[in-house]
Amino acid sequence: MSIDLPFHKAWLEKEEHQEVEDTLNSGWLTTGPKTLKFEESFKDYIGCKHAVALNSCTAGLNLTLALQNFSEGDEVITTPMTFPATANAIHLQRLKPVFVDVEPGTLNIDPQKIEAKITARTRAIIPVHFAGHPCDMNAIQDLADQHKLVIIEDAAHALESRYKGKKIGNLGNATAFSFYANKNITTGEGGMLVTNDDELAENLRVLRLQGISRDAWKRYGKSGFSHWEQTRIGHKCNMADLNASIGMHQIKKVERFLTLRKKYVSMYDAAFADMAELETLDTRDYATHGHHIYVIALHLEQLNVDRDGFLDAIQAAGIGVGVHYIALHLQPYYVKTFNTKPQDFPVASNYSERVLSLPLYPKMAVEDVERVIGTVQDLIKKFRR
Ligand SMILES: Cc1ncc(COP(=O)(O)O)c(C=O)c1O
Repeated sequence: MSIDLPFHKAWLEKEEHQEVEDTLNSGWLTTGPKTLKFEESFKDYIGCKHAVALNSCTAGLNLTLALQNFSEGDEVITTPMTFPATANAIHLQRLKPVFVDVEPGTLNIDPQKIEAKITARTRAIIPVHFAGHPCDMNAIQDLADQHKLVIIEDAAHALESRYKGKKIGNLGNATAFSFYANKNITTGEGGMLVTNDDELAENLRVLRLQGISRDAWKRYGKSGFSHWEQTRIGHKCNMADLNASIGMHQIKKVERFLTLRKKYVSMYDAAFADMAELETLDTRDYATHGHHIYVIALHLEQLNVDRDGFLDAIQAAGIGVGVHYIALHLQPYYVKTFNTKPQDFPVASNYSERVLSLPLYPKMAVEDVERVIGTVQDLIKKFRR
């Protein structure tokens, strides 16, 4: 089976190539002037006070949790309908991930179900803006205020998203973005933690590089030698200039890319609107969608095939597909560690069996989108009961 229309392909142009070459020629590859430039542009785009460049979104979640002074066994509420990074970050800090089921239609954490999971040990909520659709942040903020909880947003999917017109990255205490290879903008690997909290930003800068108070570029910068100090125990997850060279140009293109994503989403929505055998996701009134992935859910009772059979058939037609997600409470590690069961989170369990993601990226051509639509329509006809 050969895939000639991949699930994702990054769009890199001459600016990114030239910037990487410039960085290579400069001889300075790690955190330095390009990382600083990328942080500045990113901050301007989000409209927040601080942007701290890291080597992943996961690092943003890890470091922010590490800085909270929570105690071992404290609880952090999140969604099971996410990538392992979200809950791993919680558990790796010796905290307990507490899942709350998702709402049908958006697959975001269901705010109505959060309160029942809050205990005396709950310290934080990590909402994930699934597929780029913002969570209902007012409802989540109300609960956080009431119970004195920190909100750390996992915005790996939500670079362009807004909640009630407000850019994601300005709502919770801290927000982590991803520039992984398939994200709406990429640096290959990379992430950004944004916050309006001065102290958190300062501590993140120290924690991202071994707990030392100034990064290497400043240490050996023009102003002469200055000693660094290790002020705390730290990690190693700073972004390198090599990666930032790509990001500083990608960020300028984000709205151009989004225009194309929106166009392709409209084509998919229009084509699938009347197909009773599949469900497309909703966009709520409060949402400006970031359109990271295009997810459909099959109505399996109307088809002679299961989701994996449907995925195989699309791939056999040469089209790449994804699954976002088979929920974390169904993953062997979480089943083994927390004894989670499918019936604990019935909505997430149900969608886990039915969802699949179709290609959605600006480098696709209109004909590619038409080909995906035609293939899905043909397969639905083929497998219709
Ligand atoms: C919802 C979600 N959270 C976190 C991450 C982790 O991002 P990164 O690979 O940049 O650490 C991803 C990556 O795909 C994701 O989809």
